[in-house]
Amino acid sequence: MSDRGRFGRMGFILAAVGSAIGLGNIWKFPYITYANEGGSFVLVYLIAIVLIGAPIMFAELIIGRRTQQSPYGAFAELGKQALGGKAWSAVGGLGVFTGFVLLSYYAVIAGWTVYYFGRCLTWSLQGYDVQNAPLGEMFGGFLANGALQITFLAIFLGVTTGVVLLGVKSGIERVTKTLMPILGVVLVLLAINSIRAPGFGDAMRFLFHIGPIDADGFLEAVGHSFFTLSLGMGAMITYGSYVSKKQSIPGSTFLICLFDTLIALIACVIMFSIIFSIPEAERATTFGRSSTMLFTTLPSMFYALPLGGLLSPVFYLLVAFAALTSTIGLLEVAVSYFIDARGWTRKKATLFCGAAIFALGVPSALSLGASNGLSSFNPFGSLATGVLDTFDYTVSNWFLPVGGLLTAVFVGWMLKPELLRDELEEGHGTFKAFGLWLFLLRFVGPVAILWILWAVIGGRSFA
Ligand code: TRP
Repeated sequence: MSDRGRFGRMGFILAAVGSAIGLGNIWKFPYITYANEGGSFVLVYLIAIVLIGAPIMFAELIIGRRTQQSPYGAFAELGKQALGGKAWSAVGGLGVFTGFVLLSYYAVIAGWTVYYFGRCLTWSLQGYDVQNAPLGEMFGGFLANGALQITFLAIFLGVTTGVVLLGVKSGIERVTKTLMPILGVVLVLLAINSIRAPGFGDAMRFLFHIGPIDADGFLEAVGHSFFTLSLGMGAMITYGSYVSKKQSIPGSTFLICLFDTLIALIACVIMFSIIFSIPEAERATTFGRSSTMLFTTLPSMFYALPLGGLLSPVFYLLVAFAALTSTIGLLEVAVSYFIDARGWTRKKATLFCGAAIFALGVPSALSLGASNGLSSFNPFGSLATGVLDTFDYTVSNWFLPVGGLLTAVFVGWMLKPELLRDELEEGHGTFKAFGLWLFLLRFVGPVAILWILWAVIGGRSFA
């Protein structure tokens, strides 16, 4: 256990908030909200965070802090007293595996934000003269450029590895403590600035009107609450294992969920104010409601607004920061396994995981047009096309829900309630909502996740 570290109080909150806030908030949430007609989707998402996400976050933090071990060891140790015995360690193993796969393609997308930061800097300095449609072509060309994709993947993973190499306190804590406040303050300023955009009113109406929602939208909102809170793969177990017993788990969970949700909503306000400032007819024909919204729709719109030249590079830099504090969390899950369960040094574990994840990321990086074979790879038929898409499909639809389900079942049904109460109240004092929490963890979470899995087995995809 020589290479384990420990967070300070604010350090833990900011690191966990940093892991939660990422591409899920700024890239994914706005486009799925847009695709699901806003309003009710946002409401369901908020409910899912409170009733399903937060209780599972409690569960992950409890087992991490209790055992002071990474997910594999944590499940192994607590599993000993449970039905099924040490086999529960497989859930921890699944989490580590998920971390490898998720980070390998997440870092590819994170690389795009760095590229766009550079692009916007050039545009701001030399003038923006791209038409909307060529912006789409430019993005397509960038995706299909294998050398660029691999370069930016390497840059992003290189920086991530460098931070994790420095350890929990002087790497992860220091970087997240610096970046998260900057991210929060500048995003709030950007949101305030968007009040002046002509589309602000429409954006708010879109975001908060209550309309119909179909079952798919409902399940997508629930599934996303997992991804955005970094649940279902042991990330919060890992960070929880570096938390002192003096810290309150319910209090920390509250703050993490609050900040994560606020930033997701703020990202929507910023992006939708820009998008709704474009006349409706033009919006409908020119701009797709697709996953590439952040990279094809937004830049041209930025430059149509006052101060756009200043705001756009700043915005992409922030997205890159948000992604970085998430890739750090993902890498730490993998690294902590080799340190705790295999007794490796932090240096050896980090360099090994960084290199392995880079190798695993290369096929994803080349699956966006650079290589025909990799780009058309589709073991799940029409559900996902290309390696990156296939990885995302598998992780978001299978690994994270299954990991979350097994975590909820393990903590809710296998561990003694006294142990749970003991750990929840440590550093917090009497926890009045204990019965309610246990009910949500035992019943509401598992039923919602089983419903998702049922739909996925039926051929649906929520990635
Ligand atoms: N929550 C991150 C986001 O919204 C993505 C993520 C999922 C993650 N699981 C994680 C980050 C585990 C760190 C650790 O972008």
